[in-house]
Amino acid sequence: MTIDSNKKKIIVAIDGPSGSGKSTVAQNLALSIGYNVLDTGALYRSIALQAVRCGVSWDNAVELEKISQKLSVTFKTYRHGTKVYMNGEDVSALLRNPHIADGASRLSTFSIVRSALLDLQRQMGERGGIIAEGRDIASVVFPQAPVKIFLTASLAKRAGRRHAEFKTKGIVLPLEQITEQISVRDQRDRNREIAPLLCTEDAETIDSSFLSVDEIVDQIKCLILVAEKQ
Ligand code: DC
Repeated sequence: MTIDSNKKKIIVAIDGPSGSGKSTVAQNLALSIGYNVLDTGALYRSIALQAVRCGVSWDNAVELEKISQKLSVTFKTYRHGTKVYMNGEDVSALLRNPHIADGASRLSTFSIVRSALLDLQRQMGERGGIIAEGRDIASVVFPQAPVKIFLTASLAKRAGRRHAEFKTKGIVLPLEQITEQISVRDQRDRNREIAPLLCTEDAETIDSSFLSVDEIVDQIKCLILVAEKQ
């Protein structure tokens, strides 16, 4: 399937829980159709990292807001993955640490952090040609996105993927511990008061448990092709 580069470039929203495959799918999709990736989880993770570096607690909403307002994050999509730069520094590997993921989930419950990031995300997506992935993309950040995907998978599959990912990065954690961490994060992300993880009525649900990345990418590409023509 080919996608004409002269066609209008839209916003594609991909939401889903941790380990559902959002990042891999977004990355492959972006490379395949010449779009950029907006990994919104990386923004929350960057605040968590910066807070650690500044000695700010993940519960300190006032200081976290200041960090969020000063945050400078850029993304660059390469063939082997998307790099995240915080104030010019490549923090991609640091952001994948499970401790930082936990911090991101905790501080993402604060409305002042979320509203500080909302404008930033919208600016990053305003010109289209973007695959935005996160938890509240279809519901809050880009409700007008013409393609909305809710990507999910069983807890066992998602934990298994994280386990394998960590192993390649030299992070050794028992599968049971990872399963527990993901489950706690799921609960928090789904049940928070502001912009919880949810599947909007107009989103296409894709269960990635038994599909290959290529199969999912092809499925989404078909939807993009139709949306680009409208
Ligand atoms: O997608 P991720 O695992 O990198 O996200 C890390 C945390 O950031 C996630 O547990 C909740 C939060 N997050 C959010 O609240 N809203 C988003 N759009 C993206 C991430």
